[in-house]
Amino acid sequence: MNTSTYLSESQVFESADEPVNVSHSGECLDGECLDGETVATSERQQGSNNYKIMVVDDVPLNVKLASAHLSAAGYKNIVSETDSTKALARLYQEQPDLLLLDIMMPHVSGLDILAAIRCDKQFSHLPVLILTAATDREMKIQALELGATDFLTKPLDAQDLLPRVHNALLVKSHQDDLELRVRQRTQELQHAQEEVVICLARAAEYRDNETGRHVIRVSRYVGIIARELGLARNTVALMEQAATLHDMGKVGIPDAILLKPGKLTEEEFSVMKKHCVFGADICSGLINYSGQGDSSQSVAAQAAVSTQRPQGCTSPLLKMAGSIAVTHHEKWDGSGYPNGLKGEQIPLEGRITAVADVFDALSSRRPYKEPFPLDKCVSILEEGRSQHFDPQIVDVFLNCLDEVVVIRDQYADE
Ligand SMILES: [Fe+2]
Repeated sequence: MNTSTYLSESQVFESADEPVNVSHSGECLDGECLDGETVATSERQQGSNNYKIMVVDDVPLNVKLASAHLSAAGYKNIVSETDSTKALARLYQEQPDLLLLDIMMPHVSGLDILAAIRCDKQFSHLPVLILTAATDREMKIQALELGATDFLTKPLDAQDLLPRVHNALLVKSHQDDLELRVRQRTQELQHAQEEVVICLARAAEYRDNETGRHVIRVSRYVGIIARELGLARNTVALMEQAATLHDMGKVGIPDAILLKPGKLTEEEFSVMKKHCVFGADICSGLINYSGQGDSSQSVAAQAAVSTQRPQGCTSPLLKMAGSIAVTHHEKWDGSGYPNGLKGEQIPLEGRITAVADVFDALSSRRPYKEPFPLDKCVSILEEGRSQHFDPQIVDVFLNCLDEVVVIRDQYADE
């Protein structure tokens, strides 16, 4: 490569005080044309020119030299820090795409900074070019072990610097593209999953047209309670989505019972109760939901059992949906069904859905009743504290009544 491509050290210091005058095409605007190879190099770097490069070095002259070489090559977004104690804070503030890092600095060494940034997931792919003396072998090994990308020998030479910067940014660009694609795909899959769940829930509703928008309201109430209990955001979203399927098992109940307008006989009611187990079987295929095992096990423990069955679902959503389906009619005092679980034997998701489901039944119109006024719904829930319901969950739900009423009205049955 023609060395005239790069600035001499004296040119660098002249130009470093002012922005280097380089156009987008790589041609010098001051009339001094670059040779073909220089233009090709600049064009090659077009895509990288908007990347932010950060230089951390306690010697201002070194920073000037690096910045000038980079500017001359067309890089427009260069930031620097000469105080090593401020370098990490600047790094978080600037979010660069590439870091040029000096090692020998007072107070905080480059190795300390490198170690700190590699501990943070957001900088795990940040390319770091180490500025060092050529002879420092032991330090180089240490830097490599800490995740250095490459080394640059001081005093900085453009021929040494620019290809390394270009390559590091190229890798960074591919990683960014890959991460973006993975994020987009994940969002698409999540969206598809949400749609499938809603379709399944609608299928169950078609058979039991009394419920209308019941499943949506219940899932929203579940989301509110889970959030107010302080559960992690992912868990809240999972629980809310899974609750949509809480009555999925009703597809397995004969029409004569499911659609019977009058009161069910004892025998019919015992068939109706099976919708819990049917729902669990449909959603997660877990072996012990028929009451043969201990349904108080965590979803994870039950999933471990399910792996022994080839048809057992492994998705967290369907496992959660299965757990809700089989436990949303259990009662805090042990008088519920299908397994008569008591207190905290009932998984949290089942206890939450029980409150949401009953509130919705009370506050909605049914063929046999008008919607109960809010104060009557509240007093029935309060009466059920520690009998039907987990008392803490009733309290949390009633604390959010304003939000609940908005959902009730927004998704009211037509
Ligand atoms: Fe149910």
